[in-house]
Amino acid sequence: MNETVRVKNIGLRGVTVADTKISFIDGEQGVLIYRGFRIEELAQHSSFMETTYLLLHGVLPDRDQLEVFSQQVVQARQVPGFLYESFHEWPREGQPMDVLQASLPMLAMVDPELSVETREANILKAIRLIARLPGIVAAWHRIRKGLEPLPSDDHLSHAANFLWQLHGRKPDEEIARDLDTCLVLHADHTFNASTFACREVVSTQAHMYAGVAAGVGALSGSLHGGANAQVMKMLLELEFEKDVAGWVKKQLEHGQRIMGMGHAVYKTTDPRAKFLKEMAYRLGKKLGQEKWFRLSSQIEEGAIEEFKKRGQPTIKPNVDFYSAPVYYMMGIPGDLMTPIFAISRIAGWCAHIIEEKFAEAQEKPALYRPKAEYVGNYCGLMGCTYEPPEVRQ
Ligand SMILES: CC(C)(COP(=O)(O)OP(=O)(O)OC[C@H]1O[C@@H](n2cnc3c(N)ncnc32)[C@H](O)[C@@H]1OP(=O)(O)O)[C@@H](O)C(=O)NCCC(=O)NCCS
Repeated sequence: MNETVRVKNIGLRGVTVADTKISFIDGEQGVLIYRGFRIEELAQHSSFMETTYLLLHGVLPDRDQLEVFSQQVVQARQVPGFLYESFHEWPREGQPMDVLQASLPMLAMVDPELSVETREANILKAIRLIARLPGIVAAWHRIRKGLEPLPSDDHLSHAANFLWQLHGRKPDEEIARDLDTCLVLHADHTFNASTFACREVVSTQAHMYAGVAAGVGALSGSLHGGANAQVMKMLLELEFEKDVAGWVKKQLEHGQRIMGMGHAVYKTTDPRAKFLKEMAYRLGKKLGQEKWFRLSSQIEEGAIEEFKKRGQPTIKPNVDFYSAPVYYMMGIPGDLMTPIFAISRIAGWCAHIIEEKFAEAQEKPALYRPKAEYVGNYCGLMGCTYEPPEVRQ
């Protein structure tokens, strides 16, 4: 293991850094698989609770196992009160992703099994995280608007309860089911930047909350989970634009990126985007808000045309492109779109953290420690001569 592989690959594209049994992507064919099951199959037939169980345990639950697991999550929903008390003191302009990230060490402080590093204890930590993140996002949104957080409704599903805690009214069943499907679609995606961040942090034997805090930070960036909020910003800016294709062309001429398009792995349409596109169309019709679908498809068509002309025919919509109008029509503001990604991806993060901690896909745990090529100032191995500030030129 002392051997150094002398390959430099900035951004680690195409570099395999570990084995995993959790998910698989074929970027050329547009295939995404969780624990053996295609995403299409899970999006159509499964639920977020069932998919989460699958990611954490490696197999689909039977009816009793699913019932027990779902109840464990419901019973863990209550967010410790001191968190909400401190939220009242935080600046209301605080970005929801920062609030989410800052909440993680606070949750860690009250986890009774924090320092117990067995698989079972980590599953319990995962259950608490999965259960509590939605309540935190909803509570922050209400507190920043001068409203009080709402208690969870134990009769509602994970997605429906989030919408209730956010809006203070019981959601339409179809919309709650659609949000549940969105959570399934976003739950895992192999070694994406945030998952890798989680795994890298826990490879030091840090606890699960520290790993997840790193994942939330990585997800907040606009090249990763932050893209959906940027897509919505673009849609709102273009709401009354007559020449959408012209706008797209100009954007690209100025070296700007079209948010929600392109992917580090998929070189064809992202399999998740197909579901979200259909959902955006259906919700638009249901809610009389067809304009968002119309506008999104105009941008998609204009961009694909322009990318083709530029010799980049593989840049297609990714998961963030149509999730933005979908969430907007569900009444979710732009800056909560990335936190919603997080309340889904927490399932994958926890599964990967457990796999990493317990070396479930490799021989034994290993600390990530890549090398970097030093290209800075160099005066030889003896180092440069230190001169006091007064004589420095
Ligand atoms: C996701 C993303 C970072 C992946 O890119 P990548 O495969 O790593 O490749 P690069 O960032 O190096 O881009 C490769 C080329 O395609 C272009 N490109 C990729 N996505 C683009 C986009 N959305 N708009 C405009 N150009 C794009 C880049 O400008 C680059 O062109 P160049 O070689 O002439 O410089 C990139 O597609 C992107 O920035 N997309 C927009 C943000 C987004 O939606 N992120 C969510 C991802 S799920």
